[in-house]
Amino acid sequence: VDEDTPPQTLSERSISAVAHLITSGKVRRIVVMTGAGISTAAGIPDFRSPDTGLYANLASLDLPEPEAVFDLSFFRENPKPFYVLAKELYPGNYHPTISHAFISLLASKKLLHQLFTQNIDCLERAAGIPEDLIIEAHGSFATQRCVDCKTPYDDDKMRDHIRRGDVPRCEAKQNDIDCVCGGLVKPDIVFFGEQLPKAFFDRITKAEEADLVLVLGTSLQVHPFASLPNLAPDHVPRVLFNMERVGTMGSQADDVLVLGECDGGVRKLADALGWREELERKWRDL
Ligand code: APR
Ligand code: ZN
Repeated sequence: VDEDTPPQTLSERSISAVAHLITSGKVRRIVVMTGAGISTAAGIPDFRSPDTGLYANLASLDLPEPEAVFDLSFFRENPKPFYVLAKELYPGNYHPTISHAFISLLASKKLLHQLFTQNIDCLERAAGIPEDLIIEAHGSFATQRCVDCKTPYDDDKMRDHIRRGDVPRCEAKQNDIDCVCGGLVKPDIVFFGEQLPKAFFDRITKAEEADLVLVLGTSLQVHPFASLPNLAPDHVPRVLFNMERVGTMGSQADDVLVLGECDGGVRKLADALGWREELERKWRDL
C-alpha cells in the first residue's frame, strides 16, 4: 500500500477481519506493544494481576508500597528488596511464549514495523526478533552500571551476584589512589522517576506509521508507554490481546478486543491467517 491510499478499515471488528487485512497484503507496517502479560505463560509473574502479580507478592519485603522496589531513592536506601526480586526475574531461566514466537513470525514475514516492550526479561531477543526492531522501553537486565559514577559493571560478576541474591558494589578506582567507588550497581532497568531510554523517544514515530497496531499483555497504566496505542492515526485498526480491556482500547471504530489468555488469542489469529503450523514450529525451535 503506498502512502496516499487510505489504510484499509476492518469489514467487522473480528479476528478474521484482521487476518483478511494481513493476508490481502494491505498491511505492511505492524507495530506491536507488549507488557508483562505475554511472559506470565513463561512463568514470570506480571506486576498488577490481583493474586499472582509481583506487587501482590512483595509484602514479605516490607516495602512502603510495592512500586518502591523499582524506586531509585528507595533503592539507594535499601537495595536488598530489588535484589531479592532480581534473583526471581533474572533472564536465563525462562523460555519465550507462543506470543513472543508470533511477533518473531511477523518479523520473519517482514511485517513487523517496530516492537515496543515494557518487559525486562529479554524474551523478545530470545524469540529471535531482530534487535533493531525491539525497543525495550523500560530497559532490561542485559547491562548494568554504578548509580553514582555510571561505570558499567561486568556481566559475569553481575550474574553471580544476582544468582546469590546479594548486592553488587562498584569497583571503579577513584582518581588513582587505591580506594574504589563502592557505589550501588543497578541493572539498566528504568526505575520510577528515571528517563526512558533515548531509543524510545527516537523511535516513537514508528508508532505513528503503523497500519495495524497489536497490543498484548499490558495494563497500559504506566506512561509514557501507555500513550503509544493512541499515536496511530485514528482509522488504523488496533487489536488488544489481554485478559481485560485496558486504556483506550475498544474506544475507536476499528478496535478489536480479543479478551482472554494472549497465547490463545494469538493462536486464533494464526489459525485465521493460515500460519498456525508455522507458528507452532517456530516456537518449538526456539
Ligand atoms: N494473557 C493475557 N493477558 C494477561 C496474561 C495472559 N496470559 N497475564 C496477564 N495478563 C494481563 C493482566 O490482566 C494485565 O492487564 O496483562 C496485564 C499486565 O499488566 P501489568 O502487570 O501492569 O504489567 P505491565 O502492563 O507490563 O506493567 C507496566 O509497570 O511496574 C511497571 O515498569 C513496570 O513495565 C512495567 C510497567
Ligand atoms: Zn561507581
